Amino acid sequence: MENPLPPAYFDRIDETDDSLFYAEPRIVTHIDDDAIAAIQGFFDEVLARNAAILDLMSSAFSHLPDGFPADRIVGLGLNAVELHANHAFDEYVVYDLNANPTLPFADGEFAAVVLTVSVQYLTQPIEVFREVHRILLPGGRFIVIFSNRMFPTKAVHIWRATSDAQHAELVQLYFRQAGNYEGITVLDRTPQWDGYTDPVYVVMATKPE
Ligand SMILES: C[S@@+](CC[C@H](N)C(=O)[O-])C[C@H]1O[C@@H](n2cnc3c(N)ncnc32)[C@H](O)[C@@H]1O
Repeated sequence: MENPLPPAYFDRIDETDDSLFYAEPRIVTHIDDDAIAAIQGFFDEVLARNAAILDLMSSAFSHLPDGFPADRIVGLGLNAVELHANHAFDEYVVYDLNANPTLPFADGEFAAVVLTVSVQYLTQPIEVFREVHRILLPGGRFIVIFSNRMFPTKAVHIWRATSDAQHAELVQLYFRQAGNYEGITVLDRTPQWDGYTDPVYVVMATKPE
């Protein structure tokens, strides 16, 4: 069968080490306040309480509701200053998923893994989605959230060339290609009001019990 995701899809304008691009800390939010509020509300609805949560490709803000009750919240990203500034984390690790998509965690370590506004930067997404499956507990959920902004030089070609609706298709394909996820769900959680807000799209799935 023809590979639905040929390597050229994952070419980027800037192929230098990601650690160079992210060397300078950006203690900023990457979406507007309404979109952040929508994400916080969504996490409040769906994330298991008093459990271990991993925030993949994280920075200074995880968009968890204030005081969200968790046993352990771990961040993984590329900039130590940003991760240190994130008050949600009990621990964090500086780790380049494009240099090595194997996650530095044990099997079944987390009840939930979230990946917010960053999936467009993964050059080996299937490997990372497989690894997330490995480190999830049975019944655990992987929640991928995206909007419509990006650092274009670091986003993969297939993301730059496609629409929001196609991005949702692509992330579903990542889950299907990784295998062994169930209940793949796509949601549009964009705040509904008259003014503009950044869109908020969710694609999530569960590791079977
Ligand atoms: C647009 S920011 C999003 C940060 C955060 N998730 C949020 O919601 O604000 C992109 C993040 O992806 C992380 N990132 C980019 N490339 C990465 C890579 N190769 N490995 C691990 N993290 C990466 C960066 O550290 C950065 O914090």
